[in-house]
Amino acid sequence: MMHALNTALQVLRDKTEITPRLALVLGSGLGGFAEELKVVDRIPYSEIPGFPISTVPGHSGQFLLGYLGEVPMIAMQGRVHYYEGYPMQQVVLPIRLMGLLGAKVLFLSNAAGGLNPNFSRGDLMMIEDHVSSFVPSPLLGKNIDELGTRFPDMTRVYDKELCELIEQTASEQKIPLQKGVYFQLTGPNFETSAEIRMMARLGADAVGMSTVCEAIAAHHMGMRVCGISCISNLAAGLSSDKLTHDEVQETANMVKEKFQTLVRESIFAFAKTGILD
Ligand code: HPA
Repeated sequence: MMHALNTALQVLRDKTEITPRLALVLGSGLGGFAEELKVVDRIPYSEIPGFPISTVPGHSGQFLLGYLGEVPMIAMQGRVHYYEGYPMQQVVLPIRLMGLLGAKVLFLSNAAGGLNPNFSRGDLMMIEDHVSSFVPSPLLGKNIDELGTRFPDMTRVYDKELCELIEQTASEQKIPLQKGVYFQLTGPNFETSAEIRMMARLGADAVGMSTVCEAIAAHHMGMRVCGISCISNLAAGLSSDKLTHDEVQETANMVKEKFQTLVRESIFAFAKTGILD
């Protein structure tokens, strides 16, 4: 695995001169954040050896390298999902690559179904913690000692200081921000009403098909992690609507402006405190 990572890393280094300090994963429908960047290099995933290629509509599938203000960063426009059929170790390869390329902070985003009764469609939720259930750990198999320890602590995956800065930014920008626990299932089917009742009892506030495996892989290798869920729909059985990917993308489009402002200003706040130096 380390060999595959090093090969991909070398190809990436040959294609860009940027050393990113922050890595951003743009969830379903949230790829418009690219507008905020001074993009220097666009690298389609298909040009990177060993890379799993995303097949979901709304995920264009490329790395963007460039600057947000003064901050050198890398963004994934389109992520890889476990339900596409790749082994979990391959699903997190892009995350590990971004870390090896120099990113100290991983900023995750996703579209998610809302379970918390106080949530509405179009809310933004800062991820405070997660539950990984029915999803294999990306750390299964021989440990990659070069990245991190065999038995990493997961008491606090979402970095306290980053979370505080995101909350502060939301309040300054007058963007309402929910907080909660994100629950990852494999997908690709949406959940049944009974599954949603189960997850609510297990402490979930939002449910989706990504993010947790990426957060685990990043935390394992010592990156500082934070994340925002766009509540694109109420979870199954909590509204009379049938769930569709179209609704997910429509909502992401609706929240575009506040999502982009929150992410942009939060990254500036990280930079100001020296976290990205
Ligand atoms: N369930 C799972 N994943 C999702 C949902 C949902 O309701 N909405 C967006 N991603």
